[in-house]
Amino acid sequence: CGIVGYVGARDATQLLLEGLHRLEYRGYDSAGIAVAGAGLHLVKTAGRVADLRRVVPDDVAGTVGIAHTRWATHGEPTDRNAHPHVAGRIAIVHNGVFENSERLRRQLTEDGVALASDTDSEVLAHLVARSTAATLEDAVREALGQVEGTYGVIVMDADRPGELVAARRGSPVVLGVGEHEMLVASDVTALVRFTQQVIYLDDDELATVTADGYRTSTMDARSTTKSPTSIDVPSAEYELGDHPDFMRKEMREQPDAVDRCLRGRLDRRFMSARLDGVGLTAQEYQRIRRVKLLGCGSAYYAGQVGAGLVEELARIPADAEPASEFRYRNPVVDPDTLYVAISQSGETLDTLAAVQELKRKGGHVIGVVNAVGSTIARECGSGIFLHAGPEVSVAATKSFTAMTVALALLALDLGRVRDLSITEGRRLVAGLSELPAQLTAILGQEDGIAEIAARYAKAEHMFFLGRVRGWPVAREGAQKLKEISYLHAEAYQASELKHGPLALINPGMPTVFVIPDDELLAKNTATVEEIKARGGPVIAVTDADLPAGLATDVIRIPKAHDALTPITLSVPLQLFAYHLAKALGRDIDRPRNLAKSVTVE
Ligand code: G6P
Repeated sequence: CGIVGYVGARDATQLLLEGLHRLEYRGYDSAGIAVAGAGLHLVKTAGRVADLRRVVPDDVAGTVGIAHTRWATHGEPTDRNAHPHVAGRIAIVHNGVFENSERLRRQLTEDGVALASDTDSEVLAHLVARSTAATLEDAVREALGQVEGTYGVIVMDADRPGELVAARRGSPVVLGVGEHEMLVASDVTALVRFTQQVIYLDDDELATVTADGYRTSTMDARSTTKSPTSIDVPSAEYELGDHPDFMRKEMREQPDAVDRCLRGRLDRRFMSARLDGVGLTAQEYQRIRRVKLLGCGSAYYAGQVGAGLVEELARIPADAEPASEFRYRNPVVDPDTLYVAISQSGETLDTLAAVQELKRKGGHVIGVVNAVGSTIARECGSGIFLHAGPEVSVAATKSFTAMTVALALLALDLGRVRDLSITEGRRLVAGLSELPAQLTAILGQEDGIAEIAARYAKAEHMFFLGRVRGWPVAREGAQKLKEISYLHAEAYQASELKHGPLALINPGMPTVFVIPDDELLAKNTATVEEIKARGGPVIAVTDADLPAGLATDVIRIPKAHDALTPITLSVPLQLFAYHLAKALGRDIDRPRNLAKSVTVE
């Protein structure tokens, strides 16, 4: 979900709608706005921000307000479940989950309160309204003392239209400092058009904001001191410009994103990587016995690419695991393991919880994160920033590529304090520097890929196969297709095909086969033959020179350094998923049921 609040001298409605529009990638089931002017104006609707804009009457005027765009957790995405939730003069927007809401709802009902929605969030509005505390801040503090769970909240009191109170536990809240105005939001995306000066709240911190300033304190009412930091991302980077959607914009930004991720990090003297942010000495690097990579969704698949790179280049046992699983299975935390938390947004709750669990158990964890200032980046304290620029499209593209590049740098660095020779280091440094140009060449093949993708748009199911280096690529490719086309796609190890799923191959089941030009080429070619023998169409995505007629369709890309082929081979699969989804008329930037950043469990 996304939340935004405004207090100042301008028309709050327009500002809030603009802020919501920017936050929509965080959820788009329903949206709502509450503005305090003469009384409390509340407008909410199931659907998108554009739908909300249509139903907001012209006379909703006021200079303070809060707004919300929702990704449903409790309660269906209906008008009544949309935020803000109101109790008398109090309005709230909430991102997160109140775990004891059932009990609180029951208590409130027993006390004669009529609840207007099925949500967990509404209880907070009533708890604040019922508080007898002298200030809104104290009322919010008291109410939050009764809820269990996670929250990023903004609370408004129509009787005190000069202030907002915000608080966080587990869900991000950032304050934007303007000229005689203040904004509050769940992420900086909503703020960049209005200000570059921001303050990130910490967990269990509250803020009271007025047009002229802010005051922060802890849940137990001790003042905290915070000063604004500057976001150094030009607001133009959040704009669509001439692009049809953010996914395409971001795919096309990949050469630049990789270039930025590499900048200043290639050490041509020692033929290694320079990763100052990781903060480990060569001796500490040498003591690492294992590397464990954690992330969710595309970040997890990037982690799997990274694990392959670490094993290959540094010969350290490495594996990736979904952070969402890791956090719940009471993991054995080992002091000689380097843990790597991977996240574009830096706000994914499952990944954050894994980091916190690791720290509690004495694990050393670094972040591979895109969003500077994000919770995971701050919680890790050290790591590698991607510098990929803001990513808005729900389907990750440039962040995935930048993650794999950052992990290749880490693997190179780990390798060079071990067995990786300077000659091999030199080849890798050269290979990494060639990536931006190679990605540009791949993007130049878009028309051909689009044409192939459109031909498979009528398929109902698709296999994505790859072995070893190709396997995480196939998984990410299948994920992209599922996310934006809603086609059923299954990724499988090419090596495992004959042990079961070969039974599914038939002329109606196309296979996208990731075939790196490496030592396993002959094995992969043989598997293609096995599929063909069963009448299955094969789309080969490869940097190899395949025998003519082997595959039904071939997407041939430039050859990268062997170890880096998972990076280049992923990009044609993004284009494939994109154009197949386009052929089906899908809403690319707002795939159904998904949100860019999942800050709830
Ligand atoms: C969500 C998104 C995915 C993304 C994952 C991890 O599920 O829909 O596209 O890969 O979160 O996000 P993160 O910001 O942690 O990389």
